[in-house]
Amino acid sequence: MIKITNLHKSFGEQPVLRGIDLAIPDGETIAIIGQSGCGKSVLLKLMIGLMKPDDGEITIDGVSMGKAKERQLEQVRLHIGFLFQGAALFDSMTVLENVTLGLKEHGERNPDVLAKIAAEKLALVGLHGIEQRTPVELSGGMKKRVALARALATDPKYVLYDEPTTGLDPVTSDQIDNLVRDLTARLRVTSIIVTHDLFTVERIAKRVVFLNKGKIYFDGTPDELYKSLDVAVMQFLQRYRTPVAAAVATS
Ligand SMILES: Nc1ncnc2c1ncn2[C@@H]1O[C@H](COP(=O)(O)OP(=O)(O)O)[C@@H](O)[C@H]1O
Ligand SMILES: [Mg+2]
Repeated sequence: MIKITNLHKSFGEQPVLRGIDLAIPDGETIAIIGQSGCGKSVLLKLMIGLMKPDDGEITIDGVSMGKAKERQLEQVRLHIGFLFQGAALFDSMTVLENVTLGLKEHGERNPDVLAKIAAEKLALVGLHGIEQRTPVELSGGMKKRVALARALATDPKYVLYDEPTTGLDPVTSDQIDNLVRDLTARLRVTSIIVTHDLFTVERIAKRVVFLNKGKIYFDGTPDELYKSLDVAVMQFLQRYRTPVAAAVATS
């Protein structure tokens, strides 16, 4: 499981995270929401050990991501799939090369094995026969799917999504949300979805935490979020509220 205790992170004089406590049990699907710039991506980067905390810690299956040596971090990262904000595919590589990047980093060299896993993961996200294409030939939605196939390539136990639907049109967002939800159920992974898309929260998450002023301001179900009378929560909802959300709140 993932356990975060008293996590602090500043950049120069600017405090971003000011004491985060959060436990994410295995199998949970949790959304992390908050204003742009509130530290959501920083929190994910701390989780995978790409950034180090100033204080407090994050442990994943008992390993402290801030203190572990690189070799141990690599071991833990083998169990984590990461969908970066934007698809972050390499344009100079084929889809096959993009999807199998992590597997190669972890030492898999057999081209037949790589091709088999790539085809399997692409099928999982509803794509077939596009292994030899390059990202520039793909639509935004397809790129996200390829990035998702890449995140799933090592059969991770945890999947971290950074803004999976940002920048996509509503129909494509809907498809990606459904895909994330189905995969989460089918693969029984623990999913952590960073977003400011309340549609995504409604569709996917059973639990939602609201990050505000460097702290966890709210932790509950989406339904409880909409019923909250906290001023900061209400302001956030007002800004990002969708018609569906409004209907839920008044039902
Ligand atoms: N590597 C960095 N160096 C300095 N400041 C950073 C760095 N990464 C993020 N920040 C700052 O931390 C804050 C939170 O960033 P981020 O986590 O990306 O926000 P968001 O919630 O939109 O994902 C922002 O003010 C950003 O400018
Ligand atoms: Mg971000």
